[in-house]
Amino acid sequence: MSEKIYPVEKATKAKALIDKDKYDKWYEESIENPDKFWGKHGKRIDWFKPFTKVKNTSFKGKVSIKWFEDGQTNVSYNCIDRHLKTHGERTAIIWEGDNPYIDKKITYNQLYDQVCRMANVLKKHGVKKGDRVTIYMPMIPEAAYAMLACARIGAVHSVVFGGFSPEALAGRIIDCQSTFVITCDEGVRGGKPVPLKENTDTAIRIAAKQYVTVNKVLVVRRTGGKTNWAPGRDLWYHQEIATVKEHCEPVKMKAEDPLFILYTSGSTGKPKGVLHTTGGYLVYAAMTHEYTFDYHDGDIYWCTADVGWVTGHSYLVYGPLANCATTLMFEGVPNFPDQGRFWEIVDKHKVNIFYTAPTAIRSLMGAGDEFVTRSSRASLRLLGTVGEPINPEAWNWYHEVVGNKRCPIVDTWWQTETGGHMITPLPGATALKPGSATKPFFGVQPQLVDNEGNVLEGAADGNLCIIDSWPGQMRTLYGDHDRFVEAYFTTYKGKYFTGDGCRRDEDGYYWITGRVDDVLNVSGHRLGTAEVESALVSHNLVSEAAVVGYPHNIKGQGIYCYVTLMAGNEGTEELRQQLVKHVRQEIGPIAAPDKIQFSPGLPKTRSGKIMRRILRKIAEDDFGALGDTSTLADPGVVDDLIANRQNRS
Ligand code: WTA
Repeated sequence: MSEKIYPVEKATKAKALIDKDKYDKWYEESIENPDKFWGKHGKRIDWFKPFTKVKNTSFKGKVSIKWFEDGQTNVSYNCIDRHLKTHGERTAIIWEGDNPYIDKKITYNQLYDQVCRMANVLKKHGVKKGDRVTIYMPMIPEAAYAMLACARIGAVHSVVFGGFSPEALAGRIIDCQSTFVITCDEGVRGGKPVPLKENTDTAIRIAAKQYVTVNKVLVVRRTGGKTNWAPGRDLWYHQEIATVKEHCEPVKMKAEDPLFILYTSGSTGKPKGVLHTTGGYLVYAAMTHEYTFDYHDGDIYWCTADVGWVTGHSYLVYGPLANCATTLMFEGVPNFPDQGRFWEIVDKHKVNIFYTAPTAIRSLMGAGDEFVTRSSRASLRLLGTVGEPINPEAWNWYHEVVGNKRCPIVDTWWQTETGGHMITPLPGATALKPGSATKPFFGVQPQLVDNEGNVLEGAADGNLCIIDSWPGQMRTLYGDHDRFVEAYFTTYKGKYFTGDGCRRDEDGYYWITGRVDDVLNVSGHRLGTAEVESALVSHNLVSEAAVVGYPHNIKGQGIYCYVTLMAGNEGTEELRQQLVKHVRQEIGPIAAPDKIQFSPGLPKTRSGKIMRRILRKIAEDDFGALGDTSTLADPGVVDDLIANRQNRS
């Protein structure tokens, strides 16, 4: 960990919306008097019916979280309509295609037209307020139109990352009983087609076996590639929008009406449907977007995250559009046509604010500086990161080579569950320490506790909890409030437990140390070890599997699998490849195992519990100090595991 401090530069401070004094004053008020603070900032969005109540939340007992509960608003209205009078001709979305010669700009007026039409198509085919609509799309503007169209009519969207497999898509369709899917013929990434419609067809067949019937599939034509067609069920988007009106009234939504479900991995079982609601979410996404990125009117802002993740929801679509920003959406990948693509795009569109993941920074760093230095990057003012801890080497490279030492870096810690940034520098207020997410955002009260739940004061290392609610917080898990309470508020009673470990230093800076539960973070993507295990054991030759993470130079964490085969089978290289393929099919390429070790036995206690601590150590190639193994049913398995380990440094 680096302890070098980068003070706020004069030039940054002079222009910044929030300086240190303001941060201190606002932060204090946000904690001392949340009703007053959020009552004021809740007005940053337009309300059809103003709220009179601000905060009504409890982390105790059944856990209930309500913000601005008697207010009425609409997210789509706030992201589009209210800007039209003054900024209708401003670019809302700059779309940069996978192919570097293809791009387009969509103004707020055009966004209004497209979103209204798509909303009318949904209505025409029977979608009503509260219905769940699954969006399985590549990074094309229609993905944003689809989200905003749902918000406009009060339908609840569930965006599923386009890299997920048909099985994973089916699981998400089934869980929220979604009967309407929006997809596209094929996506394009790095010059290669992604068969989204075909995957959707497969997913719908799987869902049907569980008695969930998808009635309509709205298909955007992106490549014109051949797809199967189910007449009566499948609808071409370009044909449908030609038949509907160009205006659609935004539905008056209560602040606590659901806006979206987003599935994310937990430490146990199948992915969890995180539910966000309308008013508090939008206030929080917009406010964090403005202050964390020190967003000024007219800035060109680019977040590289996919719409399939929460970062794509809050900081590609909702936050920036609520602030009338120009948001850049990139269809492709960082290394196509070559590793200089990001910086080429920065120059081409004069990007001022750039937000990406440490894994991308690490992999571009490995490609060499010349890919960066051949661009000017003169427009850049601020850099950001999200998704995983950033190591100081990558931070320094980002700062020195990409940002020419001019641009502050905001290392933003948050989660799908939190809706928006929780611990983050504010550029004009916070001195930076590479590797630290620094200080809490307004209204956020972090607390460190030890494994027994004792509160740790001052400089300490512990488990990160948040002790009171903020407007962007998730409200429940879709259809399973008990699991919500159990997953987040039971480990440390009455506190929201993040699942992350964290250190606080003498200056009160927070350093996220990574997950302390069985959740992996692979290239900034969350993945439950339980999900990978269940994919492995669904293969007919596998009897048992245990999955752990291990440090990986580029991905942050790699996936290490211990696999026990059914008796009589041999762990060949061919089978290893088959298993990798199988997991890709079950979940998606992001879950592909990096290492598979065939192990006749796993280290278990006499009561049959797998001792993951030992498996982690062996996967890390650090088996010198395995600790006490005497409680194992068969201590001999450990020697075999060490002898056949797959990660040797
Ligand atoms: C990790 C992504 C360190 C963390 C927005 C968290 C981070 C999980 C950071 C949430 C950061 C996210 N520094 N770790 N700046 N940001 N994380 O739900 O472990 O996909 O719990 O949300 O990513 O991942 P999720």
